[in-house]
Amino acid sequence: MAGGNPLSMGRAIAVDLGTANTRIFVKGQGLVLNEPSMVAVDGRSGAVVAVGHEAKRMRGRTPKNIRLVRPIKDGVIADFDLCEQMFKQFLQRVSTSRWSKPSVVVVVPSEVTGVESRAVKDAAEFAGARRPVGVIEETMAAAIGLGLPIHEPSANLVVSIGGGTTEVAVISLGGIVTENSVRVGGDEFNNIIVAGFKRIFKLDIGENTAEEVKIHLGSAWPLAQEIVGDVGGRDTSTGLPRTQEVTTNQIREILDDGVDKIIDAIRKTLERTPPELASDVISNGMYIVGGGALLAGLEERVTHETGIQTFIASEPLLTVILGAGLSLENLSTIKGLAPQGDD
Ligand SMILES: Nc1ncnc2c1ncn2[C@@H]1O[C@H](COP(=O)(O)OP(=O)(O)OP(=O)(O)O)[C@@H](O)[C@H]1O
Ligand SMILES: [Mg+2]
Repeated sequence: MAGGNPLSMGRAIAVDLGTANTRIFVKGQGLVLNEPSMVAVDGRSGAVVAVGHEAKRMRGRTPKNIRLVRPIKDGVIADFDLCEQMFKQFLQRVSTSRWSKPSVVVVVPSEVTGVESRAVKDAAEFAGARRPVGVIEETMAAAIGLGLPIHEPSANLVVSIGGGTTEVAVISLGGIVTENSVRVGGDEFNNIIVAGFKRIFKLDIGENTAEEVKIHLGSAWPLAQEIVGDVGGRDTSTGLPRTQEVTTNQIREILDDGVDKIIDAIRKTLERTPPELASDVISNGMYIVGGGALLAGLEERVTHETGIQTFIASEPLLTVILGAGLSLENLSTIKGLAPQGDD
């Protein structure tokens, strides 16, 4: 590349600041950090008492004076101050040199606004990144992580189901041709489960429990073996702790509206895709990444409802960060770095 690779000097790092999890990839080392995007704050002093795994362990069990905050909502920064502090602590954990600032590329949602993108870059600079900070779109990073031939004149459909959002993109010739995103992801599934338990079983359950139910009993398509599980919570009428027996059929029904919203987002993207590219997608199939891709039976459900052969990434929680890490070697997919400077 003319003008040299700005990431070739010193250390280069890719960061995926996700709604649910933050991941950091160091060029030459690989994935070095994978922790919940969570901060525990002392309610009185406002001081950060824990970040990442340590903070998540406190969820549902925090003493009165400790507040748990997730500074990223729907893929963008919601609490700027805490995001900066979390980012800084994570970056410090992976930094080896106190003297040189690393070059940083941050993953952003595909439909990020200029202001949101600026905020992420500022947070990275606060955390210790060298200027300028580059960004890469989440679906583009996913396509690279999947090893798809993104530079060819053939379209690929990528869906990323994260904690906060589902992003859908058709990628061809190294760029995003059509995209769509909905604020439905793993968090919304958890909320739907909490609401469903209240409505159907008259049981209040916590967020951690809802997430466990989703992971162990949730599905989007009939299972080869339907199972029964026990879920603990608080009876909404007596106020006392109670255990409820639930079936995987019941949980599937509860999750159904959420899954439908994701399928709608995929359909809408396809409707807006030019015909030649749509026919490429039909022959190439669709790829799903992100933690939401792990919902049992999603592959069958999406294939059935869209008529397009669907593939789940082999490690869906890591595809985006691995792709962002690979992009450090080939800057054509990164925006905002000199000398291209399309900031
Ligand atoms: N087996 C599973 N079944 C269903 N959902 C799962 C499973 N494992 C993890 N998840 C969900 O995946 C979500 C996290 O995914 P991921 O780490 O890809 O999100 P993120 O990148 O932080 O979010 P975003 O990209 O929206 O900012 C969580 O909501 C988690 O509950
Ligand atoms: Mg993500």
